[in-house]
Amino acid sequence: MILGCDDLRHEFGSGAQRECVLHGMTVEFPPGETSLLMGPSGSGKTTLLTILGCLLRPTSGRVWIADKPIEQATAAQLQEIRRTKIGFVFQQAQLLPFLNVKQNLELVGQNVGLSPGTLQARIAELAEQLNFQRQLSQPPGQLSGGQRQRVAVARAVLHRPPILLADEPTAALDWEHGQQVVRLLVQHAQECGAVLLTVTHDPRLLPFFDRRLLIEEGRLMETSQS
Ligand SMILES: Nc1ncnc2c1ncn2[C@@H]1O[C@H](COP(=O)(O)OP(=O)(O)OP(=O)(O)O)[C@@H](O)[C@H]1O
Ligand SMILES: [Mg+2]
Repeated sequence: MILGCDDLRHEFGSGAQRECVLHGMTVEFPPGETSLLMGPSGSGKTTLLTILGCLLRPTSGRVWIADKPIEQATAAQLQEIRRTKIGFVFQQAQLLPFLNVKQNLELVGQNVGLSPGTLQARIAELAEQLNFQRQLSQPPGQLSGGQRQRVAVARAVLHRPPILLADEPTAALDWEHGQQVVRLLVQHAQECGAVLLTVTHDPRLLPFFDRRLLIEEGRLMETSQS
């Protein structure tokens, strides 16, 4: 199983402040399948994504990445999994502020050992597809929210990871750019046989995806499958 979880539970806080966000989720994501995750604000979508993305350890339950359960993995092993197996688009872009756009992208390619020629070709291709060529030498702080989001999408797919997790990747974009981003994410999943799990509040994205998941009251439901 390239990505999945078994009886995943997550609680934040302790004592009277304790809040159970995920109430035992079991789901499997086959390679090449694209899923859309919806649910009310505060329902746990980002929490689920960050656990699947090895950024947060769950309170209990098991996460599978590339056929291995990861609960015993060390911090260094989790970092290696994140660098090589996962592309993550954060809800708030989270580019490195002290590097310019091109350097942010180069770092991802260098981490997985892409040759300089391949790396530069991919950066140029993504900058053209997502229309941020003119921003390559600028620091993220000088970009608009939508430009930052497009760069964040490029960063997530640049190393062609087998798992792509995108948290509201179109939230800061107009519909034209939103569609470009979604097409690119779906194309990546299809070409690389990667898992794509995308969080959104926008029902217009539904036709682009194979599968629709909904979080409600801490539980995961499958609402349709084509
Ligand atoms: N680090 C944290 N510490 C404590 N509580 C948290 C933390 N992160 C999230 N929560 C709580 O967990 C619940 C789920 O949050 P989460 O960010 O996963 O929701 P979401 O579905 O992504 O919402 P949105 O659509 O607004 O992005 C919320 O009640 C939130 O307050
Ligand atoms: Mg969220």
